[in-house]
Amino acid sequence: MSPAPVVLGIETSCDETAAAVVRGGRVLSSVVSSQADLHSVYSGVVPELASRAHMERVASVMERAVRGAFGGAPLSSAKGRLGAVAFTRGPGLAGALLVGKVAAQALARAAGLPLVGVNHLEAHALAIALALPQRRLFPYLALIASGGHTDLLWVEAPGRYRVLGRTRDDAAGEVFDKVAKLLKLPYPGGPSVERAGRSGDPSAVPFPRPILPGCWDFSFSGLKTAVLYHVRDHAPKKAGARFVSDICASFQEAVVDTLIEKTLSAAEHLGARRVVLGGGVAANGRLREKFLARAGRVEVLFPPLSLCTDNAAMIAHAGSLRLKRPLERVLRIDPNLPVRSWS
Ligand code: KG4
Ligand code: ZN
Repeated sequence: MSPAPVVLGIETSCDETAAAVVRGGRVLSSVVSSQADLHSVYSGVVPELASRAHMERVASVMERAVRGAFGGAPLSSAKGRLGAVAFTRGPGLAGALLVGKVAAQALARAAGLPLVGVNHLEAHALAIALALPQRRLFPYLALIASGGHTDLLWVEAPGRYRVLGRTRDDAAGEVFDKVAKLLKLPYPGGPSVERAGRSGDPSAVPFPRPILPGCWDFSFSGLKTAVLYHVRDHAPKKAGARFVSDICASFQEAVVDTLIEKTLSAAEHLGARRVVLGGGVAANGRLREKFLARAGRVEVLFPPLSLCTDNAAMIAHAGSLRLKRPLERVLRIDPNLPVRSWS
């Protein structure tokens, strides 16, 4: 059997510029340069600013990833050290994706390496393997909850997926970001809401648990509106920390309950014995704690926080799996790229 290729992954789909080197499911280096400070002034990602920041940072992030993986050896020595280059080809912001693709293509051409485009959501769904390289994981039900997506995927094996449900409106992370903006908490909203909610009462406000019957889809826009109306109708003249922390704790509890209930009922329906979480929202402490408490006989696995939020190790890993299948080496970027089984 030939040794596993050493793959450099590049991730630029949203507001993290990331590069990582992975070999056979082992992370040799992982560098993430977050643009959160840049976008926080606007309480959300500004696509044009994101593309520009990726352009400014991507070369040095790649340089740091290569140096980190190979004991300080520079990117210019990549030719003899890397076996392939992978990049995120979608879904994501078009201009941001293009920057990652061009950087990956230039390196691959210069070093004579194979190039592979990766689906960002597929990479989130497979990231758990980097945390548990020795475990037999497939099949499992994956809940990918991020800033742009809330998807339930049945993962039979790498490249064999069934999309069970997705959000019909706002993604889970997006509502965290919008509620944070409403409450004037810093961007990104997920960690801010979680932090503020720690001192709040999760039962203070009975926000709705939006469960769409008869399907595995999610809908969070009604919950977002309920928070908006609550703030409009109940904010004291001088809204204190208690008011904000109670809303954060109660809103977070509603999102957490909704994600858990839908996912566990899909797991029961499918007879799934294992649920894997991924995406930035999977970093939420309350979600992790309550999922484990509610799961019963279903095993629930979370990647470490660094593999939940956007990173390039998951891109390199998914790329190394796709490399084995030449037909899957598609390079065209697609901002709305769906998760599909490989041909
Ligand atoms: O996967 P990710 O890093 O980027 C996308 O692919 O979108 O997810 C980012 C999202 C943001 O909406 C952010 O607010 C949310 O994940 N997030 C969290 C937490 N950390 C990040 N949401 C809830 N609780 C957290 N601790
Ligand atoms: Zn993501």
